[in-house]
Amino acid sequence: MGSPYDVLGIDTDADDGEIERAYRRRVLEAHPDHGGSAEEFQAVKAAYEAIVDGNATIEDHPDGDGDDPGGGAAAAGAESEGDDAGPDPGSESADAAATVEYLDYEVLTDHGWDLGDDDLFEKAAGADLPHAAYGRFLVEPGESLLEAAENRGFAWPYACRGGACANCAVAVVEGELSIPANNVLSEELIDSDIRLSCVGEPLTDDLRIVFNVKHLPGLEELRLPPHPFDRARADD
Ligand code: FES
Repeated sequence: MGSPYDVLGIDTDADDGEIERAYRRRVLEAHPDHGGSAEEFQAVKAAYEAIVDGNATIEDHPDGDGDDPGGGAAAAGAESEGDDAGPDPGSESADAAATVEYLDYEVLTDHGWDLGDDDLFEKAAGADLPHAAYGRFLVEPGESLLEAAENRGFAWPYACRGGACANCAVAVVEGELSIPANNVLSEELIDSDIRLSCVGEPLTDDLRIVFNVKHLPGLEELRLPPHPFDRARADD
């Protein structure tokens, strides 16, 4: 894997706007839903974080003197790898983080469970599900639910990242998730506790959410087709 700059495809003197645009483009390309892989997706995330955190030095770039065979994005991502349980315990904002218990909607289908089951999460806790399908993580202040999931290594569905589709929809079973930029959900869906993970931030200390609900009635038709959308973004 190349340097963080190579991973994003930018020069070492790229400004903030160039970094952000490159990250948006690359994270879409690398997402497993869009033809990438979990490894590539993680490398893009790690590269972006290394650059914006100031941990990517010029020496990381092959144009510089350093030829860091095991470094770059991989090294930069070492801090976050294996940290699925939440943010750095030393983080300043950890005190105000919200705990999210998540469950993949596909699990409900597989087990014959229903979103309205009172004991849904208790059943999930006892079902020995893989970490990608069920578990907990912390959402730090300023993180959207989708960002938090991605920062913990998960590849949840999304498309526009701006409140204009239903690809990132989640069902809030317990707690509250904000809806600051919603251009798509009907009042009926909102009343049914459907929220958008890309723009939603926790309003309560604890949440229980079911993600990957994009195929629920009322949401399927609000989804964006990923490929035309990708091309539009790539042309930005
Ligand atoms: S990804 Fe489109 S609204 Fe969240």
